[in-house]
Amino acid sequence: MIYQFYQRRIFPHLLNQVMQTASLMDKRRELLVPIEGEVLEIGFGTGLNIPFYGNVDSLYALEPNPDIYHLAIERVQHAPFYVKHVQSSAEKLPFADASLDHIVSTWTLCSIPNLDLALAEIYRVLKPTGTFHLIEHVKHPDSVKLQSLQTLLTPIQKRIGDGCHLNRNIEHHLLQAQFKFVEKEYFDADGIPAVAQKMLFARAQKQ
Ligand SMILES: C[S@@+](CC[C@H](N)C(=O)[O-])C[C@H]1O[C@@H](n2cnc3c(N)ncnc32)[C@H](O)[C@@H]1O
Repeated sequence: MIYQFYQRRIFPHLLNQVMQTASLMDKRRELLVPIEGEVLEIGFGTGLNIPFYGNVDSLYALEPNPDIYHLAIERVQHAPFYVKHVQSSAEKLPFADASLDHIVSTWTLCSIPNLDLALAEIYRVLKPTGTFHLIEHVKHPDSVKLQSLQTLLTPIQKRIGDGCHLNRNIEHHLLQAQFKFVEKEYFDADGIPAVAQKMLFARAQKQ
């Protein structure tokens, strides 16, 4: 009961604050400003990407958790473009095959229970010329010490962070799902603890 209170009433506010760390907001801008037209964002969270979609006409905001989406409503109401909330999971996307030009994920792939199924769905609904734009925290690519710490802490992180895995090799999962990178960069985000600091910034297309 206390855990349920934490998850429903406290965690969404913590998420809303942490995800506004300045270094993350800067990267959101870099990822999203070039996107035009219609977009599907998976794991829309509290709507922090809205200000950076400068050239977007309409946005499908896929967010399964109503307590988190509740904190997005005010941002959605002030959005200068059409936003449709889709209460669904990335593992079962309610979109036709090859129907979308742009799909966005910012710090969502860490939390999806069945990541490979979600990536197969993203692949299915993306047009052959479409782009999957993402920023995610990842398993550290080099440091064995940090990798071990990430694996050690992931069971706790999943409990306090609504299913968040610290140790996912997102690049590997994307390649397994038959994506190819058209842009890829690893960086350390300022203001984030070392165990979750290594980020993948990427744009991927269907092979
Ligand atoms: C760390 S938050 C990131 C929120 C937001 N993308 C951002 O950049 O601030 C992870 C988000 O993924 C969502 N999520 C969890 N499981 C999901 C699933 N199966 N499908 C889609 N989204 C999911 C959570 O509800 C949460 O909003």
